[in-house]
Amino acid sequence: MALSGTLPRIKDPAEIERILQENNELKRQIAGGGGSTSYQIPYEELEVQDQIGGGGFSLVYRGFWRGTPVAIKKWFDPNHSDQMVQEFREEVMTLAELRHPNVMQFLGACMKPPQLAMVTEHMPFSLHSVLYGGQVDLDKRKIVAMAQDIARAFIYLHSRRPAIVHRDIKPANFLVDRAWKVKVCDFGLASNSKAQAGAGTPQYMAPELWENSHYNEKVDVYAFGVLLNELIAREPPFSGVPLLEVLSDIIKRCWDGTSSARPSFLQISELLKEAAKSL
Ligand SMILES: Nc1ncnc2c1ncn2[C@@H]1O[C@H](COP(=O)(O)OP(=O)(O)OP(=O)(O)O)[C@@H](O)[C@H]1O
Ligand SMILES: [Mg+2]
Repeated sequence: MALSGTLPRIKDPAEIERILQENNELKRQIAGGGGSTSYQIPYEELEVQDQIGGGGFSLVYRGFWRGTPVAIKKWFDPNHSDQMVQEFREEVMTLAELRHPNVMQFLGACMKPPQLAMVTEHMPFSLHSVLYGGQVDLDKRKIVAMAQDIARAFIYLHSRRPAIVHRDIKPANFLVDRAWKVKVCDFGLASNSKAQAGAGTPQYMAPELWENSHYNEKVDVYAFGVLLNELIAREPPFSGVPLLEVLSDIIKRCWDGTSSARPSFLQISELLKEAAKSL
């Protein structure tokens, strides 16, 4: 008997996505829950210096790995509960697979409790510090160029199978270098297989996340619209500052209450290219 005759035919895209995710989870478990040995870093090779961020279950430090400046994200639940260790592993395994100029570069990780740490390239600024930290001049061209960087990162993330939905787009989760290049960081929510639909940062959450209903990568498009508006207004979301004319159409389309009506990041990238020409 032909094998195809014995297999159920699956047509529902949501079902296919679920099976793909299960398959991915299995692969992770087979990897031993410890991650590939190729990227494990002995904790003794790290020189941890001053704290630069963090909250929740992790703190981020500046430091050195064998003489190279790096960022070190340490998980610190003193009990090292199974759930915390699992969340750490999921975040490491998500980031370890990503390679893109606009995604924070993973370098390695200390995977042996109680020393759980993720080592990445160090970036001098966060988008939050650029927006609110001082007298940084942000003209229209810089705003559009930064938006392009973000759109490129998300074309990449959303085109992976299964798609990586970040779910926590906000200024603190983007890093900026001295040439104004922007990179996305913090895959805590993206990788957390137990995270509730309702988890996230309220001002950036699409309506479908509030309803705890089914959602997809278009929740990132909605949050990007909020962020783009914030880049222009330089005030926390929804403070009523008028939109920059050339970008107002993009922002409104990202905010569509119907997720399927929102543009993809590929379309957003094209729209930004057009906007850049008119500046
Ligand atoms: N590679 C890096 N270079 C410079 N600063 C960084 C880097 N990674 C993180 N940071 C700083 O640390 C802050 C917190 O990092 P991150 O968002 O990964 O952790 P978190 O918000 O505590 O994570 P979670 O929400 O998953 O607990 C960032 O907002 C940023 O200011
Ligand atoms: Mg964060």
